[in-house]
Amino acid sequence: MAFFLTTPFLGFMYYFIPKAANRPIYSYRLSIVHFWALIFIYIWAGPHHLLYTALPGWAQSLGVVFSVMLIAPSWGGMINGLFTLRGAWDRVRKDPVLKFMVVGVTAYGMATFEGPMMSFKSVNAVIHYTDYVIAHVHTAALLWNGGLTFAMLYFIVPRIFNTKIYSLKMANFHFWAVTLGTVIYVIPIYWGGVTQSLMWKEFTDSGTLMYPNFMETVTHLIPMYAARAIGGTLYFVGVIAGMYNLFSTMKQGSLTSDEKAEANKAEFQSDTSKGSSFHRWLEAKPTQFTVLTVVAILIGGFVEYIPTALVKSNVPTIESVRPYTPLELVGRDIYIAEGCVGCHSQMIRPFRSETERYGEYSKAGEFVYDRPFLWGSKRTGPDLHRVGGKYPDSWHYMHFMDSRSTSPGSIMPSYPWFATRKIDLDVVPAKIRALQRLGVPYRDGFDEAAIDDLRQQAEGIADGLANSGFDVDWDSHMVAVIAYLQRLGTDIKAQPQAEAASDDTETSTASR
Ligand code: HEC
Repeated sequence: MAFFLTTPFLGFMYYFIPKAANRPIYSYRLSIVHFWALIFIYIWAGPHHLLYTALPGWAQSLGVVFSVMLIAPSWGGMINGLFTLRGAWDRVRKDPVLKFMVVGVTAYGMATFEGPMMSFKSVNAVIHYTDYVIAHVHTAALLWNGGLTFAMLYFIVPRIFNTKIYSLKMANFHFWAVTLGTVIYVIPIYWGGVTQSLMWKEFTDSGTLMYPNFMETVTHLIPMYAARAIGGTLYFVGVIAGMYNLFSTMKQGSLTSDEKAEANKAEFQSDTSKGSSFHRWLEAKPTQFTVLTVVAILIGGFVEYIPTALVKSNVPTIESVRPYTPLELVGRDIYIAEGCVGCHSQMIRPFRSETERYGEYSKAGEFVYDRPFLWGSKRTGPDLHRVGGKYPDSWHYMHFMDSRSTSPGSIMPSYPWFATRKIDLDVVPAKIRALQRLGVPYRDGFDEAAIDDLRQQAEGIADGLANSGFDVDWDSHMVAVIAYLQRLGTDIKAQPQAEAASDDTETSTASR
């Protein structure tokens, strides 16, 4: 987010606000401090997405500290943008460009205040994995990134086409539709996020979960999703009006396809007051500037990444954790391709409300063979890290064919094609070799045996399903996904898996 939706848009802000307001930037020095502080600090803040997970505690703490520090440059930047409008506020009333900018920069300020608050561990414990985060991101994306984009288009299109905005009225409608649309969009999901979290965490007086069935929390949110859709539609209608307005502007004008232009040298030379001259020099040197920027960004990355990768004690390995079987690997790839990770996390945090609901909390050592990680960031559905063994294979079969057959009212899509779509067996040996190269300890030559191993395990599952009355080919997606799900989170359990599965596990283990 930081380097896609924040820094580039700040660049736009610093260029277009002075242009549109016809005022010099409030403080050039502040803009430089803003830039360097932001790019230096932002990378360090990454772990605020992983609080209370299996990430080492020291990295989590660094993430919190740097997230809180981010308030300073962010708010400095917001104030710099808004103060640039001093003396031009009367025009904000009339000019759609300035309106969009003011709302955009204000949204930037709100989101960059809210972000650090969300990275306090006690707050994060409540809002992480909920829709609250979605509301936070959309405030920024729809108003800050959206608002600034519309402002730039309204500024630049009439200039390129040598004309005026086609309809000021329509631009104002666009502005209000976008602003109110966002408000109507985010309030229900903020509300929903908090509701969801409190329901997940609620205990009865006798110490059991108040809402043990995850579906209860899902159905409770559906009206809020509907309200969110109304806001989203209003925003979208605004955007359509805006696009129509811009196209009409292009049509009524005539394109200035080329313009003789040259940077104003005097501007660079005139400002040689002490302190700013070095930076003025640097700004004119793209290579040096890029190198210094990259160095500033990388420092935090190195400090947080290298010890986690190199210091063994950061990842306590667990004896009983074994690599996935070829069939499970295929199932895992289908899980990725189908986007299950968008709705399901695989990371149980060490809270009583989560261990009661999902089981033992997740340990770093359980993920050593997970490439890439599927920890997830939102729980539209329940966490799946310990779903292995929770249901029989036949339950999963029915759930994928029609999610509402097992879970009335479910909003999980059904995946009936799992029953008919076939696994591509040819790529399996290459998958094994790729993982071997990444250090996963399959025995030498296991790639050759992988297809046989896969078939053996798959036939076991298909036979089991046939016994329950569900006929499905052993090489279907269904069998692979079920194999993967039944494996999840089971390695550290003291009890071995169900008898039927243990045969396969043994042969697979022997062949590894
Ligand atoms: C739109 C969000 C969404 C997507 C995408 C999604 N799920 Fe779900 N999932 C849910 C919801 C909501 C539930 C809870 C209700 C239910 O059981 O259907 C759920 C439940 C589950 C359960 C039962 C978990 C339990 O402990 O009861 C499993 C297993 C599951 N999903 C697997 C998957 C797999 C595999 C995929 C991808 C093929 C997937 N889900 C995609 C939302 C989703």
